[in-house]
Amino acid sequence: MQIEAAVLRSPARPYAVEQVDLPDPGPGQVLVAIAGTGFCHTDVLPRVPGFMAPPPLIGGHEGAGVVTAAGPGAPVAVGTPVVLSFDSCGHCEQCLSGHPAYCAQFFRLNLTGRGATGAPTARGGDGTAISARWFGQSSFATHALAGPRNVVPVAADLPLELLGPLGCGIQTGAGSILLALGVQAGSTVVVYGVGAVGLAAIMAATIAGATTIAAVDLHDGRLETALELGATHVVRGDSDRLVKELVSITRGGAHYALDTTAVPQVIAAGIDALRPTGTIGLVGAGAREIVLAPSALSAGKNVMGILEGDAVPQVFLPRLIELWQQGRFPFDRLVTTYPLSEIERAEHDAATGAAIKPVLVPGKG
Ligand SMILES: NC(=O)c1ccc[n+]([C@@H]2O[C@H](COP(=O)([O-])OP(=O)(O)OC[C@H]3O[C@@H](n4cnc5c(N)ncnc54)[C@H](O)[C@@H]3O)[C@@H](O)[C@H]2O)c1
Ligand SMILES: [Zn+2]
Ligand SMILES: [Zn+2]
Repeated sequence: MQIEAAVLRSPARPYAVEQVDLPDPGPGQVLVAIAGTGFCHTDVLPRVPGFMAPPPLIGGHEGAGVVTAAGPGAPVAVGTPVVLSFDSCGHCEQCLSGHPAYCAQFFRLNLTGRGATGAPTARGGDGTAISARWFGQSSFATHALAGPRNVVPVAADLPLELLGPLGCGIQTGAGSILLALGVQAGSTVVVYGVGAVGLAAIMAATIAGATTIAAVDLHDGRLETALELGATHVVRGDSDRLVKELVSITRGGAHYALDTTAVPQVIAAGIDALRPTGTIGLVGAGAREIVLAPSALSAGKNVMGILEGDAVPQVFLPRLIELWQQGRFPFDRLVTTYPLSEIERAEHDAATGAAIKPVLVPGKG
């Protein structure tokens, strides 16, 4: 069918909002009319020369909307409101053990833009083949095709245009705290970088009952937002006394930390500011090498890479929605909406920090 999509035609060029031909839903697939789709930092990776998802490509991996067509055997019916998340194979050891974010096919299914077939699935008006399976959805568009494992049905009475970011950035921050790190009540937590992922982590640490929650960033406005969302302390990331201050705030080092900055010096400081046996989770994309002295981890310290908060989206997203309904997880405060046609402005505002979580709304004029 003919849809309108923001197509990245080459790494350095602006997106082109154009008509694209998308195939009908195949077995297990659904076509979703997109109500809103978040802009995540991972969406800029196809702009990096040599990255595994070459343009032309339709990005977007935080879509939410309503199913308008369903292929044979699709898990949800036409008319169902859904949030779209990451894709997984469903039959590897990690998928079968309840850890689909560590699926053996994660990179192929999500980060090549081409999915399991390895081929572009959409066509531009000029006949060009366009990759349209980015994170199993490619939702910078009026419509997206999703597979059986990355569609999450939700209740009918929700503000669908705001829910897309639950599918990646918000799930990553909250899941890292509640699922991957398993933060305990009464513990101490430091979150490095309080953009969308870090602020979701701050809210989740509050829910988990952590009693000391420190936020670290270079952006004073974001530190202010962190305090409003549950941080008990804030520290500037460029402080010369960063480690000392955090060790003092946490009375001997943090039990848990989460790095969302991907800055090697910040990660190294985060390891130093852990208490013995503490764990730091790393979620930032594109980090360069970290140089560590052999003794840096000797006090039983742990470093854990985390994808998508180690969540099962169909289980975790409904929980986050319920916490939001109870007023305990106000992620909607992070959202700024833009028409799909203003995707360049959304990308710019995400890069400068002017918007914490831009959400593109195809229906917004
Ligand atoms: N692992 C996953 O599954 C997953 C999922 C979603 C996003 N991500 C990645 O997580 C990262 C964070 O995403 P986001 O949307 O929150 O991005 P963001 O840019 O909004 O947040 C990063 C924050 O780090 C801060 N920062 C940068 N340098 C700093 C420094 N030296 N000291 C302190 N703070 C510093 C920035 O000011 C910013 O507020 C990105 O790299 C994104 O690609 C990973
Ligand atoms: Zn798998
Ligand atoms: Zn993402």
